[in-house]
Order: sequence, then structure tokens, then C-alpha cells
Amino acid sequence: MLHTRLCDIIGIKHPIMQGGMGPYKTESLAIAVANAGALGIISSIGMAATMLPEAAPVDAIRLFGSDPPPVILQKSIEAVTRGTRTSGGVFGVNIPVASEFILASEMFVKQTIESCQSDSDTERSLRVIVTSAGNPKPWSLLKKEGFIWAHVVPSVYHAKKAEQAGADIIVASGHEGGAHVSWEPVHSMVLVPAVCKAVKTPVVGAGGFCDGASLAAALCLGAVGIQMGTRLIATQESDFEPMWKQAIIEREERRTLVGRGLFGPMRFLRNTRAEDIVRRTLEDIPDFFLGEPLDSNEEILELERLGFDDLIDAKEETALMFGGEVVGRIDDLPTTYDLIQRIISEASATLKTIPQNTLRD
Ligand SMILES: Cc1cc2nc3c(=O)[nH]c(=O)nc-3n(C[C@H](O)[C@H](O)[C@H](O)COP(=O)(O)O)c2cc1C
Repeated sequence: MLHTRLCDIIGIKHPIMQGGMGPYKTESLAIAVANAGALGIISSIGMAATMLPEAAPVDAIRLFGSDPPPVILQKSIEAVTRGTRTSGGVFGVNIPVASEFILASEMFVKQTIESCQSDSDTERSLRVIVTSAGNPKPWSLLKKEGFIWAHVVPSVYHAKKAEQAGADIIVASGHEGGAHVSWEPVHSMVLVPAVCKAVKTPVVGAGGFCDGASLAAALCLGAVGIQMGTRLIATQESDFEPMWKQAIIEREERRTLVGRGLFGPMRFLRNTRAEDIVRRTLEDIPDFFLGEPLDSNEEILELERLGFDDLIDAKEETALMFGGEVVGRIDDLPTTYDLIQRIISEASATLKTIPQNTLRD
């Protein structure tokens, strides 16, 4: 048992949040994580692809069918409400709020509010909205609607903005994390304690967390819990392809690369597709590293599209797969329940042994 402020704020047993992980809905994973006593998360980013299929890297119809995005989200919320009813598990929705995504963000927020208003079980279990990848300012309305509002940030500067906007929880996301990362490579070991020092709002560490030792480390750095992405992909229940899970288990820590994604840089599992994306990225230097607007989105879109197609065809070298540096510390495929239990008991044991391992006068 490891109880922190995060448990009190959200009403969860363990101080662990699932990271939002598009392009999938992460419905099964959200149910498994919530039933294991942590915070499960539905991911909305891929659902928006059905709005503009020609501009989306994924085959939206294959992934989500032909329902409009709010209906896809509504059905997901209903499924996770049903799946967590018996356990009393708690879940949330991740809604990226990047400027390119803003119409979809507004639509998903509206749908999440409506889903809670129309079902008392959903109102009880869907407690959190996690916004990411954009300006937090417009989203304090989430608190007025009764949600606990977490916002993901890559820097102290952005953490202060999130605090000013009124976020209940700040997720400090280090550069070692999977998928979207910042232009500036600040990793969790520097970012998490710096953010904890700069704001009074409770901070959750993200990027590189996968086990009891890293959870204990996050708490020592001042965080109230951790958010995990890559580690949770390699679980029995996660919604990801078997090839993707296996790739995470097999890779060592150097086998990721950061290159351009459609909405900024992303960390990919290294293979020839990721290398092609990085090659294309390097051609955009210096604009890439200076964060200037880029005009080669079509080529990146095409590379991502080919990569997602090859994911379906299980072509490991050319499939597009995201993942964090923490792949080097993951070597099994447990059930989500066993994983969360293991992390909590290892972290408790680690925190107990620290005083014994400390040198005394
Ligand atoms: C496959 C994948 C997809 C992701 N998609 C999203 C997303 O849609 N929205 C978001 O806020 N973060 C996204 N992330 C970031 C995670 O929520 C989380 O913060 C990150 O994975 C933490 O670092 P870790 O991978 O080292 O655990 C994604 C991460 C991965 C690995």
C-alpha cells in the first residue's frame, strides 16, 4: 500500500495514471488499469481522424468504423463504464488541445460532459480529464463541470502556465517518454524536481517510469505519483498489436529515435521507418530545432501513413511504433493487475530500504 495525495484527489487506490495513447482508444487497457486500482485513460486523439480521413495518418474507418468522433467517444465511455462497474474503478479521458486539434478538443470535451450527465455510473467513475499538447488557459471550465483536471507539460514554464490556469494536477513529462515530446530535450530527472519546486499544484512524473524503483524515485523527487505509457503497452490487456508489445520487450534503451511527427517531435521505436522520418527531419534543420513552422507535412504524413499500414501487416522494420527509452527496462508481458501490484510492492520495499542504505556518520 502506497498512499499519496494523488490517491486522495482522484479517489484511486494506487498513485499511478495510465498515459493517453493514440491512435487507439485504449479501452481495454483503461478498464484493466482502473480495475487494478490505478487511473485508466481513454485516448481520443485517433478518434478525430474520422473527421478528415484524407489528412490522417491512420486508416480511421478500419480503426473506428464510420461513426462520427463524438459517438466513438461516447461508446468508449459507455464500454469503460460497464467494464469498471463491479470494481468501482476510476477512469478519465485524454484530450489533446493542440491548436491544430482544437475543434476536435471542444467536441470531445462536450461529449465527455454529456456522457457524465446522462449516466450516473459514468458520472461516478469518469472523474478526470487530462489535457495535453497545448495551451491550458481555455480549459479551466473542466473544473466548473466537476472534473478533476490534469494538464501535461514539458517544462517549468508550461507548468507555471498550467498552475495559473487552475489545473488540479500537473503531469511533468520528460523527454525520454514515448510519442510526443518537446522540442527541448529535458528529461524526467531534471524536469520533475524542477517542476515540483516551481509550483504548489501536485505533480505527477511521466517519461521513463515503469517499476517500483522508478515510482519510489518520483516520490523522492517530490511527485505525488507517476504516469506510464510505454510500460502499459506491454501488458496482456493493452489494445496494441502483438508485434508492438514484443518490440518493446526486446529493445534495449538506445533503440528509440526522435523525429518529426505531424504535431511536433515524437519518440519512435527505432527501425528503418523511424530512420526515414529522422532523415526527413534532418533536412528541415535548422527550423526543426528552432521550432519554426515547417512546410513538409505532406511528406511526413505519407511516411506515417506507410508506417501505420505496415503495422497492420506486421512488418516490424517499416511499421510506425512509438515508445520511450524505458523500453530498455521492460522485458515481460504481465497482466495489468499483476504489474500494478508489483510496482506498488516494489516501491514500498524500496522506500523502506533507503534509510538502511544511507550512509551515517
Ligand atoms: C504509443 C503512445 C501514444 C501516445 N499518445 C498520446 C496521446 O494521444 N496523448 C497524450 O497526451 N500522450 C500520449 N502519449 C504519451 C503518454 O501519455 C505518456 O505521457 C508517455 O508515454 C510517458 O512516457 P513513457 O512512455 O516513458 O511511459 C503516448 C505515448 C505512447 C507510447
